[in-house]
Amino acid sequence: MRRGRFLVLMMILGIATFLCTVNLDAQPDDILLDDSEVFTSRSRPAVEFPHLRHFDDAGIECSECHHRFKDGENIVDEGELEEGSAGIKCSSCHKSEAGFRLEPDLDPTKRTLQQAYHRMCMSCHRQLKKENKTAGSVTCGGCHPKKKADQA
Ligand code: HEC
Ligand code: HEC
Ligand code: HEC
Ligand code: HEC
Repeated sequence: MRRGRFLVLMMILGIATFLCTVNLDAQPDDILLDDSEVFTSRSRPAVEFPHLRHFDDAGIECSECHHRFKDGENIVDEGELEEGSAGIKCSSCHKSEAGFRLEPDLDPTKRTLQQAYHRMCMSCHRQLKKENKTAGSVTCGGCHPKKKADQA
């Protein structure tokens, strides 16, 4: 009897530990996009980005946003997209000045970090709005909300 209870307890503990581990491995739900080390004299507030909603609710593939190119093809693999891994940050390739780092296989293009974000975020939102679908903001204030201090 006691032994049975102990086993059940161990099982519950095991499952709880498993769930916690899975949860720790999960992608962050919301990310504050704040590349202040690149935008040293920034003019807009950082951007609150609901990461999870994009691939969970909206069903967008990881590789629509994350990329690593080889011979002109995006060969990024979902398994390499982990918190803290090299090249996960857009700023590891897109810099404040035009040009890329991190062993680019492609000719460097002229996409600075700001252009990279804007082009990716806004063009999708714009396109979806055109098709009358749910999308995120296309206005400056929608992504860069005014801080209370600015309104005073
Ligand atoms: C709509 C675009 C978009 C989609 C879809 C997307 N991501 Fe992201 N992800 C981003 C952006 C933007 C960042 C922030 C990068 C930065 O900080 O430079 C990010 C960051 C991350 C990070 C790093 C988080 C951190 O805080 O270090 C991981 C891990 C990640 N994504 C994994 C994934 C995986 C796995 C998928 C698919 C299941 C996915 N992403 C789908 C845009 C996207
Ligand atoms: C490993 C390096 C690397 C990382 C990390 C990276 N990019 Fe890129 N990105 C590139 C390269 C190289 C190109 C050029 C592709 C080409 O010329 O076709 C590119 C192209 C783009 C383009 C297309 C530009 C255009 O003119 O069509 C956008 C938008 C973009 N990146 C946004 C992002 C965003 C947002 C992130 C972070 C989620 C990110 N990139 C992360 C290397 C990277
Ligand atoms: C491939 C298409 C796509 C890309 C790329 C994309 N988004 Fe979105 N975004 C969506 C869709 C679809 C929604 C609506 C999600 C939902 O609620 O179901 C959304 C919603 C949002 C919202 C929530 C708006 C609200 O009403 O609460 C924000 C904020 C946002 N996006 C910011 C961004 C930022 C910042 C980027 C670039 C790093 C980005 N998005 C890239 C498609 C995209
Ligand atoms: C769909 C979301 C979105 C929209 C709409 C948007 N931006 Fe951004 N913008 C971003 C993201 C994401 C960054 C990168 C922020 C970071 O990583 O610090 C950024 C960066 C910037 C930067 C560079 C950082 C700084 O503070 O100097 C400027 C300037 C900027 N945006 C201005 C604008 C203006 C002006 C508009 C309207 C025409 C606009 N943005 C619309 C998402 C958006």
